[in-house]
Amino acid sequence: MSRKNDRDQLLAIDIGATKVCAVAARRNDRRAIEVQGLGVHPCDGLSAQGIVNLETIVSSISNACAKALNQAPGMDVQRAVVGVSGAFIQSQNCSGSVVLSKHGRTVTADDIENCIQSAIQKSTSKDYEVLHAIPRWYRLDETQHIRDPLGMEGSVLQADVHLITGRHSILKNLRRCVQRAGFQVERFVFQPIASSYSTLSDEEKMTGVALVDIGGETTSVVVYYEGGIEHSETLQVGGEDITRDINHYFQTPYENAENLKKYSGSATAESIDPEERLEVVRFKNRRTIIVKKRRLCEIIEARVEYLIEEVIRTLRARDLLGVLFGGIVLTGGSSMLEGLREKAQSLIKKETHIGYPNGVVGYEEIITSPSYSTAIGLLHLGFEKRDEDEAYYGAGMRRVVKRVMKWMHEAF
Ligand SMILES: Nc1ncnc2c1ncn2[C@@H]1O[C@H](COP(=O)(O)OP(=O)(O)OP(=O)(O)O)[C@@H](O)[C@H]1O
Ligand SMILES: [Mg+2]
Repeated sequence: MSRKNDRDQLLAIDIGATKVCAVAARRNDRRAIEVQGLGVHPCDGLSAQGIVNLETIVSSISNACAKALNQAPGMDVQRAVVGVSGAFIQSQNCSGSVVLSKHGRTVTADDIENCIQSAIQKSTSKDYEVLHAIPRWYRLDETQHIRDPLGMEGSVLQADVHLITGRHSILKNLRRCVQRAGFQVERFVFQPIASSYSTLSDEEKMTGVALVDIGGETTSVVVYYEGGIEHSETLQVGGEDITRDINHYFQTPYENAENLKKYSGSATAESIDPEERLEVVRFKNRRTIIVKKRRLCEIIEARVEYLIEEVIRTLRARDLLGVLFGGIVLTGGSSMLEGLREKAQSLIKKETHIGYPNGVVGYEEIITSPSYSTAIGLLHLGFEKRDEDEAYYGAGMRRVVKRVMKWMHEAF
């Protein structure tokens, strides 16, 4: 296979707490991303804390990828961009600096790279590896808030960087899971960063927006303002907490609780007719009882309120509520819960909408479901990073050597 073809094919694997989602895609001659295959397989091998069952993850990755690639004859991919999330990922804003020259000189691409590396080296803990080092602002001597200092004159360059790192031991095990399923990890991506690539517009990122990805075991928040990333964080609460609440309260099997949530539930109980009733199967003797639908929705609403309050607390703690002029974008499977958007909008008091994955062609079911935002974002980010690396390599051997050194830093 030619190198060009190789570069234009990509496998994205989103390892979620409830499912593994694999998407195989190609970039066509107009550089549009065409989805060739989609595979989803249930997975409960990963919790918000980390790996619970390695074998389950390997088998879910194998199954999801096999399904995706079976629909994509002619595609031959060995490497995958892999989305991860959980308490083993840390995010922080940090800074680095380089002295250019006492009397000033022009900033080069290498200076910028060195400046970012200095931030990484100062702030990465020993047992963590770098997933993303996203420059937010640069400062050149007395001038602050520079987006791109390339070609400017100055003496000292400083970079303000949003650094996302992951615990090395857990990433190493996840890398092994992907390898055992038959693929190499091209790069790990923090899931909400991927989701923001497929759901947010540049305009929203400029205006100020919070992306809230509500998954199974986690809710991830990413805030953008004036085009740069302000904050990212994963909260350990998600849609499975709602299902567990229903399961416990009504003493009904988990699968029934899940169906009650999805097909009869709502996060706004007062909108439900107080007389409307439902049948619920109990564990005990599989007996069916009749309950008020409004009671079910009150239980859902209580957990949703807790979840949204956690999001508000996170935003308030960083003083970010005031910059969200572009509002809130909800995505992830749990954003499909009836009434959740309305509830979030009334509690956060910001314009709120659901973010669907954009910018790919093929597979109608993908663009109509927020569960696929991460996987589709992985494709966007994966192709973009390949293009950046290509441009970087093209700039000469000296850079290649530096890049290898950077990888070594990221890997150990
Ligand atoms: N129509 C629906 N209504 C309510 N909840 C739904 C609906 N469809 C899916 N969900 C919930 O979405 C959750 C799964 O979302 P998603 O696929 O984004 O999670 P994940 O990526 O596997 O998990 P995580 O992001 O926490 O690692 C489950 O809790 C599921 O019950
Ligand atoms: Mg997810």
